[in-house]
Amino acid sequence: MTSEESTYFHIGIRLSFPPAIISGILIGMISLFWVQSLYHSLLLGAGTASTVFILVYLFALQLLKKRLEQLHDTILQTPSRFTNVNGPPDNVATDEIQRILNAAEWCKATITHELKKMDETDNYRKEFIGDISHELKTPIFSVQGYLETLQDGALEDPKVNRVFLAKAMKNVNRLIFLTNDLLEISRLETGELKPDLSVIPLNNLIHDAIDALQYKAEQRNVTLIFEEKETNAFALADRNQIRQVLVNLIENSIKYNKTDGKVHISTRYHENDRSKIVVSVRDTGIGIDPEDVKRVTERFFRVDKSRSREQGGTGLGLSIVKHILESHGEQLVIESNPGSGSIFRFTLKSADYHSDLISAWP
Ligand SMILES: Nc1ncnc2c1ncn2[C@@H]1O[C@H](COP(=O)(O)OP(=O)(O)O)[C@@H](O)[C@H]1O
Ligand SMILES: [Mg+2]
Repeated sequence: MTSEESTYFHIGIRLSFPPAIISGILIGMISLFWVQSLYHSLLLGAGTASTVFILVYLFALQLLKKRLEQLHDTILQTPSRFTNVNGPPDNVATDEIQRILNAAEWCKATITHELKKMDETDNYRKEFIGDISHELKTPIFSVQGYLETLQDGALEDPKVNRVFLAKAMKNVNRLIFLTNDLLEISRLETGELKPDLSVIPLNNLIHDAIDALQYKAEQRNVTLIFEEKETNAFALADRNQIRQVLVNLIENSIKYNKTDGKVHISTRYHENDRSKIVVSVRDTGIGIDPEDVKRVTERFFRVDKSRSREQGGTGLGLSIVKHILESHGEQLVIESNPGSGSIFRFTLKSADYHSDLISAWP
């Protein structure tokens, strides 16, 4: 960003005035004694003042103008990662120095903003590392405990060795889930995992997610019901990512449901906007307190840590859902009644306006 060449050099004019006036008056007064003519003294004073004015102006122009412009441009080159750099408004400056002062004010504000953002990122990173090490510690120490007990003699005891090995294995699986989810969330947060948009038949995808989770639902006596209201809903989205959103939401609705509970999954066009398809996952589960609803999409937040861990939860599922939907320009809406159930709802862009792609669907 470079400053525009201005026709006037305001500071030059301001600098030239005082010496021009003073020298004009002095020369005029001295010459009055000398030539004894007011007219000639005034003429001489005015001539001196004009000459001094021009000389000082040219001198200042030569010496200062370019450097002041360079200083202004250098200040405006303050690097910024977080702020939208537009620079200060130049039209409020009365002269070059004021322009530089405005630029310096803007630079100060930019740096303060950058430092604040960096502090926030730093705290966030520290918190994330703290959370990760805490989450990793629990399964690692469990595995260590089981292996040590087996090593100390339990291996010979057929009653416990299989049980301990199975428990150690369960914790190793937890570590695998956790590392996979961590990898996923960091790729989503750094923007590395951008959605790969294509036309996806939503109903197929929902059936697919339901099939993958049917065994889990049966284990807990939960019934999965797909209300196929829109038989031909096509969305423009990333197939794998939306599959993951569905799996995470349906899995939660099974995990945090009651025995003999139900999960209703449905798709419908938005009442006021047919370019959107609303997908909802409703359960008859334990529900979430209003205070916790705000927090469930935070990383590692779990209402009941032990229940989540018991079911192999990592506390990252909803956080991943939120990131995926945000990268699609959509949002997750949660409504919940503690004790009677929850609804997780989100919208997707309908692919109706991309009929060429739909007709090409095999
Ligand atoms: N359908 C649901 N019903 C009740 N609570 C839920 C539901 N879905 C999520 N939660 C709460 O939100 C928390 C965060 O969910 P999630 O990020 O998927 O982590 P995880 O399932 O691994 O614990 C869960 O631990 C649970 O307390
Ligand atoms: Mg989950």
